[in-house]
Amino acid sequence: MADMIPAQAPRGGAVATKGLDDEARQLALLIGGVTDYAIYMLDPNGYIRSWNPGGERIKGYSEREIVGQHFSRFYTREDVERGEPARGLATARAQGKFEAEGWRVRKDGSRFRASVVIDPIWQEGELIGFAKVTRDVTERYEAQQRLIDAQKALVQSQKLEAIGKLTLGLAHDFNNLLTVIVNSLDLITLKNSDDPRVQEWTEAAQRAADRGTLLTRQLLAFARGQNLAPEVHDINDLLARSAEMYRRACGSAIQFRLELADALPPVDVDMAQFEAGILNLVANSRDAMPTGGTIVVRSSTVETAPPSAPETTPRLYVAVDVIDDGHGMSMEVADRATEPFFTTKDVGRGSGLGLSQVFGFAAQSGGFATLDSEPGRGTTVRVCLPVIGGRPNG
Ligand SMILES: Nc1ncnc2c1ncn2[C@@H]1O[C@H](COP(=O)(O)OP(=O)(O)OP(=O)(O)O)[C@@H](O)[C@H]1O
Ligand SMILES: [Mg+2]
Repeated sequence: MADMIPAQAPRGGAVATKGLDDEARQLALLIGGVTDYAIYMLDPNGYIRSWNPGGERIKGYSEREIVGQHFSRFYTREDVERGEPARGLATARAQGKFEAEGWRVRKDGSRFRASVVIDPIWQEGELIGFAKVTRDVTERYEAQQRLIDAQKALVQSQKLEAIGKLTLGLAHDFNNLLTVIVNSLDLITLKNSDDPRVQEWTEAAQRAADRGTLLTRQLLAFARGQNLAPEVHDINDLLARSAEMYRRACGSAIQFRLELADALPPVDVDMAQFEAGILNLVANSRDAMPTGGTIVVRSSTVETAPPSAPETTPRLYVAVDVIDDGHGMSMEVADRATEPFFTTKDVGRGSGLGLSQVFGFAAQSGGFATLDSEPGRGTTVRVCLPVIGGRPNG
């Protein structure tokens, strides 16, 4: 193992004692002047024998405190439990060197990223200890991590952009196909058939087509980043117009009720997005009530400040509540429910875009949406759209 013995002692064993003294002193001076590296010696069992100012600067211990202590105190508890300190020494001894990067602990308990080299020191074939050099590479490590994060975010945004373009094209084509399907189904229902099953089949096909329409609208909204085409509307009119579609989406096991306010002030809103949004919410409520229940869609005027800026002066909104008495959401689900592509539903049953469309649409319309849900106690989603000129002062 001769080739693995590092040059530890001053070179040339035959030099005069004075020369050796000089060289040793110089070396000690050199090490004593290094502050960027912790350079110290361990005995064969890992107890610290010497210390330098770099050690004090990086790890926080003075020479008096640390000499005689075991070097494992620089390791994290998990690393000590895994036997890392002993492994480092054993590797250095067996392979002539141990090099690694990992987390270490300062005297004050804080952690730093350390680059570590351990060399065994042999004298006449006998291991007399180890030389250990530690460098604090926290800044470099953190810069690397930030770079990796930035690269990931870039890839993600490029991916999203590509998906967006593809989605836009597909959704447009699909929308055209669905228009033909929906129109044809409407015509079929007008032609009375003697066979009651035909009625059933047509209704099932209509429901599927409605779901398809909803999906393509979600996809369009997602791909375009929701470019809205707002116009002045009475929300009650919009709700009444789509009531049949909402009722159909509920299916027969669920009671659907529309509770419209007596009169509503006008709002500026993209009609297609609004209808898709409410249909999304109704579909969510239906999915939360597999054994039946009640869905209420209610409109009202409210004076409030948005939850994102509660200290601002309240203003007027038209609120649409979609209320169900279904299974509700756990806190974890509620926390993530409005994220795009978050879904708890099986593949093909949910794309996870519904609530993100609703919340995005509400915000882009100058309003906001809120979610109120508890496991076993149902869910209410409220969409608030700003009343035109509904500011208290104008
Ligand atoms: N009314 C509700 N009751 C209980 N859980 C709900 C309700 N609405 C939404 N959720 C939960 O939030 C998740 C996200 O809803 P979201 O509408 O965004 O997507 P989705 O319904 O899963 O799919 P998509 O609407 O795109 O078809 C749902 O998967 C469900 O777990
Ligand atoms: Mg949904």
